[in-house]
Amino acid sequence: MEKGDFRTHTCGELSKTNIGENVILNGWIDSRRDLGGVIFVYLRDRYGKTQVVFEPTKYPEAYQTAKILRSEFVIAVAGIVQKRPDGTINEKLSTGQIEVIADRIKILNESETTPFEIKDEVDAFEDLRLKYRYLDLRRNRMQKNILLRHKMYQIVRRYFDDNGFLEIETPILMKSTPEGARDFLVPSRLQPGKFYALPQSPQTYKQILMVSGFDRYFQIVRCFRDEDLRADRQLEFTQIDIEMSFVNEELIFKVVEDLMRKLFKEVLSINIETPFPRLSYQDAMEKYGTDKPDLRFGLEMTTVNSVFAQTDFRVFKETLESGGVISGLCLKGQADLSRSQLDSLTEFVKKNGAKGLVWLKVKEKEIISPISKFLSDKEIEELVKELNADTGDLLLLLSGPRLLTLNVMGTLRKEIAGRLNLINQNSENKLLWVTDFPLFEWDAETQRLYAVHHPFTSPKTEDVANLDSNPIAVRARAYDLVMNGHELAGGSIRIHESRLQTKIFEILNISKEEAENKFGFLTNAFKYGAPPHGGIAFGFDRLVMLFTGEASIRDVIAFPKTTSGLSLMDDSPSQVSEQQLKELQIKIR
Ligand code: AMO
Repeated sequence: MEKGDFRTHTCGELSKTNIGENVILNGWIDSRRDLGGVIFVYLRDRYGKTQVVFEPTKYPEAYQTAKILRSEFVIAVAGIVQKRPDGTINEKLSTGQIEVIADRIKILNESETTPFEIKDEVDAFEDLRLKYRYLDLRRNRMQKNILLRHKMYQIVRRYFDDNGFLEIETPILMKSTPEGARDFLVPSRLQPGKFYALPQSPQTYKQILMVSGFDRYFQIVRCFRDEDLRADRQLEFTQIDIEMSFVNEELIFKVVEDLMRKLFKEVLSINIETPFPRLSYQDAMEKYGTDKPDLRFGLEMTTVNSVFAQTDFRVFKETLESGGVISGLCLKGQADLSRSQLDSLTEFVKKNGAKGLVWLKVKEKEIISPISKFLSDKEIEELVKELNADTGDLLLLLSGPRLLTLNVMGTLRKEIAGRLNLINQNSENKLLWVTDFPLFEWDAETQRLYAVHHPFTSPKTEDVANLDSNPIAVRARAYDLVMNGHELAGGSIRIHESRLQTKIFEILNISKEEAENKFGFLTNAFKYGAPPHGGIAFGFDRLVMLFTGEASIRDVIAFPKTTSGLSLMDDSPSQVSEQQLKELQIKIR
């Protein structure tokens, strides 16, 4: 390209103030209209679009070249800025007041016909978009997402720097230390037969950095987990990772709340209220049936076991005898739901693993329900009271094993919110802390306890005494930040004494040898004056997803993988050569 072809302005820059100026623009042909005598082109770059006009009489040479322009050709065009004629002004476009009358054009590159149109509401399947990601990323909507993501990185970095945090990189090739998901392994050529793991998170490193005295650490870091993918999960994703020494939950919450306030303010111009409300895990499960409740709508569940303590209704009686739960939901003003609507709700809960759904319609003088004949007047009266029901309301009850039932009821709560349109575009964002998670969970299949968060999470001081006698009841000093039903961040106060850490490994049935082998480096470090510490990590992709309003994190990641872990653009994972395998001493069976 010659010097004279370089742009003087971007395609989103020119306005009325530039009228009369000679300019050069570079960009892609967004669209071209040939109106008999005159050719109109929208020229696009990441800053915007500008209308360029080619007139045959004034500048015949440029006009002749313009005739062969097609979508996505890259051009340099020189011309003079003029006011658009009255009636052709486009108020929606920042450059909509002006157009450039082209006197010279150079085609910098041609383009084949693209497999889909470069526009916001593209009608191509996602797989095609991912295969041609470079074209997909040309779309305004994707450019906006990537730009917003960039802005958020910068705000996050500035925030932590302003608050005395150090950005420290940690290894990508590390020791395999299970953190809940499956590791990605990398074979070592120099140490045949041995493997590195890619970090599921920098958890152990950041704790060791606390031992080294870097009391405020952060990193925007790639994490890798070989797990099943969903709309808000990727095999590799980005965390804002934070660790602090000499802190408790309150101090960590404050750092996170101030960051969120800043992000909301600077990115979305929204003032959010802090501190965020807090909800214990137990309450979250009972009221919303999930540890990441969406509080943008009410519809709280109520456990009504006490109402049916003396019941003769066999289903409820058996549930209570086996330690289960009866959970109720009151749908205001929905007593007129049709039989088929009720059937579809029943089908929904069955599909999710419940045995059935009990419904009761609260009418003026009576209760209409398939089970009303099994219930006493007192039970009905108490139920109506417990669920705050009035005439015209519909009551739904689910009963069964505790966790399953609460979960299904929580899923039903969300489904109903969708069907009744309770969450709209303007619903206020709802952030909250979920606290007091259990430290362990029991896995029936392997018949052992697992760490709910990770094995370095501290138990609550007041629960330590129960570690031996009743481990399942021990609560953790762990917390999640939840926004609109998504887990945005999770963290905990850590164990910093090697004795307590060893005890937790014992309870987790991790043998001394295994603990030494897997975590010895950490427990050893703890022998040399480990400060009390704690931290948290955000799912950065999720954060950006919620800020852009996208429904999938794939739309805020430049080069994401599909749900089956494929990168369709470069076709990875792929086979490797015999030679590569030989060097690594690996044989494919
Ligand atoms: P945790 O495992 O809860 O904690 O992860 C922190 C946050 O990371 C996000 N996240 C994901 N995002 C996209 N794809 C995934 N596969 C994925 N998995 C997790 C979630 C989650 O809240 N080391 C601890 C943090 C700590 O204790 O400080 C950790 O990684 O938003």
